[in-house]
Amino acid sequence: MAVKHPMRLLVCVLAALAPAAAIGQLAPRFSPEVPPAQAVIARNGMVVSQETRATRVGVEILQKGGNAVDAAVAVGFAMAVTYPRAGNIGGGGFMVIHRANAEPVTIDYRETAPRAITRDSFLDANGNADPAKSEDSALGVGVPGTVAGLALAYEKFGSGKLTLAELIAPAIALARDGIPVEDDTAASLPDAETRLARWSGSRKIFFKQDGRLLGPGDRLVQTDLANTLDAIAQGGPRAFYEGLIAEKLAAALQAEGGVMTADDLKSYRAVERAPVRGTYRGYDIVSMPPPSSGGVHLIEMLNILEGYDLKAMAGDPGAGTHLMLEAMKRAYADRAIFLGDPDSVTVPVAGLTSKSYAAALRAQIDPARARPSADIRAGEPAPREGDNTTHYSVIDRDGNAVSNTYTLNFSYGVGMVADGTGILLNNELDDFAAKPMTPNAYGLVGAEANAPGPGKKPLSSMTPTIVLKDGKPFLITGSPGGSRIITTVLQIITNVIDDGMTLAQSVTAPRLHHQWLPDQVIAEPGVASDLIIALQARGHRVRIGRNATSANSIAVTADGYAGVADTRTRGALAVGY
Ligand code: GLY
Repeated sequence: MAVKHPMRLLVCVLAALAPAAAIGQLAPRFSPEVPPAQAVIARNGMVVSQETRATRVGVEILQKGGNAVDAAVAVGFAMAVTYPRAGNIGGGGFMVIHRANAEPVTIDYRETAPRAITRDSFLDANGNADPAKSEDSALGVGVPGTVAGLALAYEKFGSGKLTLAELIAPAIALARDGIPVEDDTAASLPDAETRLARWSGSRKIFFKQDGRLLGPGDRLVQTDLANTLDAIAQGGPRAFYEGLIAEKLAAALQAEGGVMTADDLKSYRAVERAPVRGTYRGYDIVSMPPPSSGGVHLIEMLNILEGYDLKAMAGDPGAGTHLMLEAMKRAYADRAIFLGDPDSVTVPVAGLTSKSYAAALRAQIDPARARPSADIRAGEPAPREGDNTTHYSVIDRDGNAVSNTYTLNFSYGVGMVADGTGILLNNELDDFAAKPMTPNAYGLVGAEANAPGPGKKPLSSMTPTIVLKDGKPFLITGSPGGSRIITTVLQIITNVIDDGMTLAQSVTAPRLHHQWLPDQVIAEPGVASDLIIALQARGHRVRIGRNATSANSIAVTADGYAGVADTRTRGALAVGY
């Protein structure tokens, strides 16, 4: 292994060695490519997001007396300006809210398919899935949910001390005054250049007059976006979903071959849903239900792992990790068959998250040998009952907490800014299974339950999660990363609970991923070679690959709130007060 940064390596080794007695059942120690994350400790509140200015906006709202939901709403609007590759008002997401004195709730603000979308919308003339339609065209744009979702969170769960306009004001100022192109935006724009350059609305914002892409030293000024945000601040969410903005959005999409209408926008509603809940070794898991698959499969995998004495396996390299990878395969096989929009199909959530189902799956796992994915099929849960996303975590002084993940799907979405609105749009409809068992952009397969259809929500992997101990927040976590989100959140939790890591160590530790198909383990650079050899000896095919996840998380510790910004992507920041 070439060591490019010997000092960084030394720090990593020291950090990894510190709690050596406890570490080692599941998690690899460190990655030379991931600078060690540091915890920021504060007593009164904490915001951890992928973008510096947005984190500061959130903390200022907390300091003004806003609660965690107010701060999360302000961060969401700010990131639509300051983190255009994933922060958005043209996409959608999920928010999990822990309330200090009430039951937890979630907000589903996932995009919906326009009414004209059918099962065959993303097929070519030969009946094959056509990624050009779902990933690269106006047809792949879902009706955005972010404005409705943030507004619903504010109305129902905000403190009531601040107006929605006050929460949007920082975003308006950032859009109007502009921000320097730096950090992850400077790093990610070149990769999106071709996708952005196709659309006149995007060229006006992300390119200079001479046609060159914005870069370090330039300012990103978004006057149209400032005006759109101002309209929402003045008129509330309906100003986005009805009237001039909605008409401009629909017209821009239809001019490019899209099918979204002003009526599709008018009918959009964010939905409050009960969280999906589970337990793991005495902790409560509160996470996102369908139309995200995240919470269901996180709990399914934790339930499988709970049946093993992982601590007893510390001396056997790869033993615990092998079991975790086998659990991942079973969960993703189930995901492909059972999961979809709960408003259109019946998802067996209770069956998939039950301890008895996990026990049945566990019985099929050979502790000594990987089972090939070709031999794994979705299980039989109890009968059916009725790169580029971004995650941030917030907690306030009263212990209210928000875990929010939202997205445009790809980095910069479909790349299209609807002319005159400043709104960068998603390509979320690629998350449907365009054709049964044909992989989407994340290599994920799906079946009937996730077929495209009018008004349907494509299945997501986003996993905003709050882990409770004795009813109080213990970890607030989540991540971007498409199909890798669920396994990332799994490892953040097990690294802490099973391996005894601090949150900073857990966030830093290199990650492993298996999603059933393709049948391979993706190991982040830095996974120890003895672990890889031990996995190969059990029959796993291991490929080294970057893991574009970023788990901006908070732990509640005896010292206070520990905010940890993931160092995998530049610009993430934890600030408390
Ligand atoms: N667009 C990625 C996801 O929702 O999982």
